[in-house]
Amino acid sequence: MGKEMQQIPLPNTTLKGSRLILGCMGLGGGWDPKTMLTKEHEKEARDFLETGLELGANFYDHANIYAHGRAETVFGRILKEKPGLRDQLILQSKVGIRWADNPDGTPQRFDFSRQHILEALEAILTRLGTDHLDILLLHRPDVLWEPEEVAEAFALLKAQGKVRYFGVSNQNRFQMEYLQSFLPDPLVANQVEMNLLHSGFAEVGISFNQASSQYPDGWEGTVEYCRMKKVVLQAWSPLARGVLTGDLQNQSETAKATASLVQTLAKQHETTPEAIQLAWLLKHPAGIQPVLGTSKPDRLRACAQALDVELNREEWYSLFGAGRGKPMP
Ligand SMILES: NC(=O)c1ccc[n+]([C@@H]2O[C@H](COP(=O)([O-])OP(=O)(O)OC[C@H]3O[C@@H](n4cnc5c(N)ncnc54)[C@H](OP(=O)(O)O)[C@@H]3O)[C@@H](O)[C@H]2O)c1
Repeated sequence: MGKEMQQIPLPNTTLKGSRLILGCMGLGGGWDPKTMLTKEHEKEARDFLETGLELGANFYDHANIYAHGRAETVFGRILKEKPGLRDQLILQSKVGIRWADNPDGTPQRFDFSRQHILEALEAILTRLGTDHLDILLLHRPDVLWEPEEVAEAFALLKAQGKVRYFGVSNQNRFQMEYLQSFLPDPLVANQVEMNLLHSGFAEVGISFNQASSQYPDGWEGTVEYCRMKKVVLQAWSPLARGVLTGDLQNQSETAKATASLVQTLAKQHETTPEAIQLAWLLKHPAGIQPVLGTSKPDRLRACAQALDVELNREEWYSLFGAGRGKPMP
């Protein structure tokens, strides 16, 4: 079994977690609000969790919106079948996105109000069947947020023992720094999209003073801030949603060339294409933790090989260059 069996200390916490985080967005039957949980969904969640444990993954990522809450509900049902398991896991979830789910026409929106954070957290604990989360993330920035309210909600949840640590998702350096100035404890994570075809986090590092560069997705200073403050960057969609291992017929020339290089390197390293893509993220000195999206046991096993792959600098830059679709400046 690969090095994923080793659990690493998570900075700014007393937790030890697997380097690969298993994302639970694929559990619970998808995005249709009318879907009902079935025995099939339970089997899928059971197989997912059992394979994760077999691979040494103790870190699971949720959000209250995944499958309209059914991802957490079905995960909670499987946890209930396995007494004592909850205490061996790191459970992370997110709040702050609200569906247009009321009959009076309320739109889909973001909500970091104290009331919403507290109510959403209670519902998460009920669905997962646990008395606490290890990590709570704010899902997507709320334009109307008042950081004092967030700080109040966090303080209450911590005092009540309902959440141990807090972090954010999809926030830039300035948003994190601003929030942090209201909090007594350090933020522990920022979950952001990072993959070979969405590499703004790397692009920003080579774009200063380059006339040809486009401002890369607001990443300015975010990697450095996270490294300085030991906030772990968690990579969502680390496999670009399977594009590079799927049917490439309708994909861009850049995606095709990147997929081809991924395949070549996988052969050279005697590993899987999934492992090459993840090893590219793992090589970054910030200590990125990929959040895997597949719920399929075979694909989880293919991903788990990543921790046995060490890319060299030349391979890393070749992959970066292929994914960005143009040579280094
Ligand atoms: N914070 C945020 O805003 C945010 C946003 C999106 C996601 N997330 C988190 O990040 C996790 C990962 O996101 P993601 O699902 O977009 O990540 P991903 O790992 O890049 O993509 C996984 C998706 O691609 C499909 N896929 C096709 N071929 C695959 C292959 N060879 N290997 C692996 N997957 C393949 C999977 O389907 P199968 O299940 O059929 O394998 C799954 O739907 C989510 O579960 C969630 O926890 C967070």
